[in-house]
Amino acid sequence: AKITFNHAGGDVDVLEVEPGTSLMRAAVTNGVAGIVGECGGQAMCATCHVYVREEYLDALPEISDDEDEMLDCTVEERTDRSRLGCQVTVGEGLDAVEVDLPESQV
Ligand code: FES
Repeated sequence: AKITFNHAGGDVDVLEVEPGTSLMRAAVTNGVAGIVGECGGQAMCATCHVYVREEYLDALPEISDDEDEMLDCTVEERTDRSRLGCQVTVGEGLDAVEVDLPESQV
């Protein structure tokens, strides 16, 4: 599955990852800057905040209560496109996804 990360400064990273990989895990293990993932994917830190591109929003899983709460704690402003990168996994139903990274996570 393909993940495209658009950095705030204009750089782009494209990763090809195994299905079942979360956006946070993909970024951290591949050295993609802009995602911290401090809590290790427990939806408890909000340092994996991403803005999902419009055309992929409908294919995403619902936002859980835990994720919803943490999305109110992001450093950069929450928008309708905000998700936690650790709660979005590519693979089933989401073969490709493109996100914009916030300028800062901490
Ligand atoms: Fe901590 Fe996603 S890695 S909330």
